[in-house]
Amino acid sequence: MIKISPSILNANFLDLKSQIDLINESEADWIHLDVMDGVFVPNISFGFPIVKAISTHTSKPLDVHLMIVNPERYIETFADSGAYMITVHYEVCPHLHSVIQQIKKAGCKAGVALNPHTDVSLLRPILQDLDMVLIMTVNPGFGGQKFIESSIDKIKELKALAIKINPSLLIQVDGGISTSNIKQLAEAGVDVFVAGTFVFKSDNPVDTIKALKTLA
Ligand code: DX5
Ligand code: ZN
Repeated sequence: MIKISPSILNANFLDLKSQIDLINESEADWIHLDVMDGVFVPNISFGFPIVKAISTHTSKPLDVHLMIVNPERYIETFADSGAYMITVHYEVCPHLHSVIQQIKKAGCKAGVALNPHTDVSLLRPILQDLDMVLIMTVNPGFGGQKFIESSIDKIKELKALAIKINPSLLIQVDGGISTSNIKQLAEAGVDVFVAGTFVFKSDNPVDTIKALKTLA
């Protein structure tokens, strides 16, 4: 069964409580929280206080996507703020194995995200230690971008590696996900779908989440 993890990046922050209420009443499996530092990506979003506040208003697991440099400095604080999954970017972790152990020690599931240009095979030596790999299907930084088609080949390559090395690995996609591509991605091996704009800019986010889940 696939999972839907709505991203609140393009939700109405002035009324965040009602936006979380919508996710709570929907069939969403997780809530995706995009933390950006203005260094690794050209945008700044939100940090611990927002993650913590959301954790008090939902029982859905918090799927925290860290688009920040030096994520090892903040793992414990995100864990204490209520994170279930913590995903760090391959591109900012020269000591990735160590960061993964740190995330697990903090009591969270561990994910690694790959930018569109980063090769899947780089994860081979560490794949058995991971709970999830996030294949970025846009360049990280902003919601509402166009899905990068070449991601599909990366997903297939990762799925084949995971079957050999870590069959319980979750494969996540993030960026430009909608009802027009979710089925093809599910067939390629995706387990967890992040969707931001498509959910929160729709007339009825609860129905949109249901539609995504039904199609996948
Ligand atoms: C982009 C973020 C995404 C973003 C996806 O850097 O990681 O989670 O919110 O937004 P959409 O679904 O609008 O492409
Ligand atoms: Zn994200």
